[in-house]
Amino acid sequence: MSLNLFCLNGPNLNLLGEREPEIYGKDSLKDIEKIASKKAQELGAKLTFRQSNHEGELIDWIQEARISASALILNAAAYTHTSIAIHDALKTLEIPIIELHLSNPHSRESFRAKSYIAPVADGVIAGLGSAGYSLSVEAAVSLVNKWKKTHG
Ligand code: DQA
Repeated sequence: MSLNLFCLNGPNLNLLGEREPEIYGKDSLKDIEKIASKKAQELGAKLTFRQSNHEGELIDWIQEARISASALILNAAAYTHTSIAIHDALKTLEIPIIELHLSNPHSRESFRAKSYIAPVADGVIAGLGSAGYSLSVEAAVSLVNKWKKTHG
């Protein structure tokens, strides 16, 4: 199994299932991890799935992904809208990056319209709830395979 996908989750996503379920759904992050890992396995990939409430820890993991991942799926949660440090860390990566959100930030408060991730992401999946995680695993595998074809 040569594909190692990283899926990193930002602040408050550890509370999924309890936190504003009308917006984020009833699945816990553990439920989501199980489903997304199964999808990765079906596609011949391994999923490294983590969550942190701390910006610096997320940046350390992004730097780890730079060395050991084939693609990065990132739900940076509220840091999406604030973190130039995460933006800068993502800029050092040469692997495909997918920005992911459970909700559609563009249909919510205006402060969620700004994303520091989007300018450095290959694609964005948002507004599809927990299904977005499996979809982003599929998209990541497809982007890696496309990259391999063009780069040999
Ligand atoms: C989120 C959207 C963000 O605006 C918010 O701060 C989150 C979760 C989502 O998955 O919908 O914490 O990233």
